[in-house]
Amino acid sequence: MIKFPQNFLWGAATSSYQVEGDNANADWWPWEKKAGHENSGKACRHYELYEQDFDLARGLNHNAHRLSIEWSRIEPQEGKFARQELEHYVKVILALRSRGIEPVVTLHHFTNPIWFSADGGWEDRRCVARFLRYCDLVVNALAKHVRYWVTINEPTILVSHAYLFGWWPPQGRSFWRMKFAYDNFLHTHLKTYRLIHKIYKDQDLQPPLVSVSQHISAMVPCGNSFRNRWAASLRDKLYGFDFIEKAARWRALDFIGLNYYSRQLVDVTSWWPGNLLMETCTHNHDPARKNTLGWDIYPQGLYEVLLKLKKYALPVMVTENGICTSDDNARWEFVRDHLQSVHRAMEQGVEVSGYLYWSLLDNFEWDKGFGPRFGMIGMDYSTQQRTVRDSARKFAQVCQTGVLT
Ligand code: FCB
Repeated sequence: MIKFPQNFLWGAATSSYQVEGDNANADWWPWEKKAGHENSGKACRHYELYEQDFDLARGLNHNAHRLSIEWSRIEPQEGKFARQELEHYVKVILALRSRGIEPVVTLHHFTNPIWFSADGGWEDRRCVARFLRYCDLVVNALAKHVRYWVTINEPTILVSHAYLFGWWPPQGRSFWRMKFAYDNFLHTHLKTYRLIHKIYKDQDLQPPLVSVSQHISAMVPCGNSFRNRWAASLRDKLYGFDFIEKAARWRALDFIGLNYYSRQLVDVTSWWPGNLLMETCTHNHDPARKNTLGWDIYPQGLYEVLLKLKKYALPVMVTENGICTSDDNARWEFVRDHLQSVHRAMEQGVEVSGYLYWSLLDNFEWDKGFGPRFGMIGMDYSTQQRTVRDSARKFAQVCQTGVLT
C-alpha cells in the first residue's frame, strides 16, 4: 500500500481542439480536410456538454482538471476579440470551481488561429506580441479564478512534428524552420510567464503558478556502448530538457509540467543524423508491451525522468500520462504502475504536486483521428454517449483516499 500527500492534485486532462468540436477557426480545421484525414468535426461536443463532463469528473473524485483555451475562438480574426467566447471560458472555469475542481489552464495546445498560421505562424517574430495580446485578455479575465497556468503544451513535439518531420500543419521539413519556431516558443514562454505574474500583481492576487507542459520520454540506450549512451543523452537534452533548462535559468517556471508516455530505445548504428537523432531500435531484444499506437509501455521511465528533474528543485506536476488501448484492464495497470513510479520518485525527494491522466474522454488524436482510445470515459461518437470505464472507477478510489493498494 502506498500513500500520497493530502493536498495532491488528482484528475485528468483534455485540450480544446480534441474535445470541443466545431473549431472551424483553427488552422487544423482546413488542414484536416485538405490532407484527407479524419475530421475533428463535433469531436465530443464538450463545448456544449462541459457541465455534464465535469459532473462525471466530480463523481470520479477528481479535484483537478487540465483544459486549454482555444485561441482561435477568442481571436478569430487578427485583433478582433470575441467577447462571448471569453465569457464562455469564464463559465467553464466557474463550472469547475463550483464542483471543487482546481483548473489547470493551458493557453496554447497545438492549434492556432487560421490568420496567425497564414501570416507567418511561429516562424515569424511577430508571434510573440500576437500571442501575448491574446494572453493578456484571457489571463486578465480568468485570473481571479485560476491559480495554475500552462503557457504552451509540448513545444518540442510541436516544432518537430510541424516544422521538421512535416507531419502536422504547416508541414515544414527544415531544421532551420524548426529552430526559429523553437526559439520563438522559448521567448514566448518567458514573456508570457512575466505577463501572467504582472497581471496577478496588478490585480492584487496571490502569485500564480506558471509552467509549460513538456513532453519528456525516457531515453534508454541499448546496451552500454558509449555511442548509444551519448546519443541517448543528446536526445534527452534536445527533446526533453533543453526547454526546461533554459526556462529554469530565466526563473520562468514555478513548477514543471511533465507529460510522460513512453521510452525511446536508442541504438545508433551509423552517423546518419536520422539514425542518431530519431530512429528507435528495431531489434526485439528488450520487448515491452505497447499501446495501440505502438508506443512502448515503460512505467519505470517516469521514475527516471522525475529523478532527472530533481536538480531544478521545483515541484513537478504530471500534466499528462496515459495509454490508448481497447483493453481497459491494461489502462488500469498502466495508471497503477505509473503512480508507483511517481511515488518512488517522491520517496527519493522529488516533489510531485499532482497527477493528471490523459485523458478524461476518448477524443480526437490529431493526425491519428478518433481511433486511439485514451479516455477513462469512453465515447460513442455517433450518439455522444459517455461510458465510465472500470479504470476510471479504480482511479476514483485513489483520488478519494490518496491510497494505492
Ligand atoms: C500528447 C498531447 C495530447 C495528446 C497525447 C496523446 O503529446 O499533448 O494532446 O495528443 O499526446
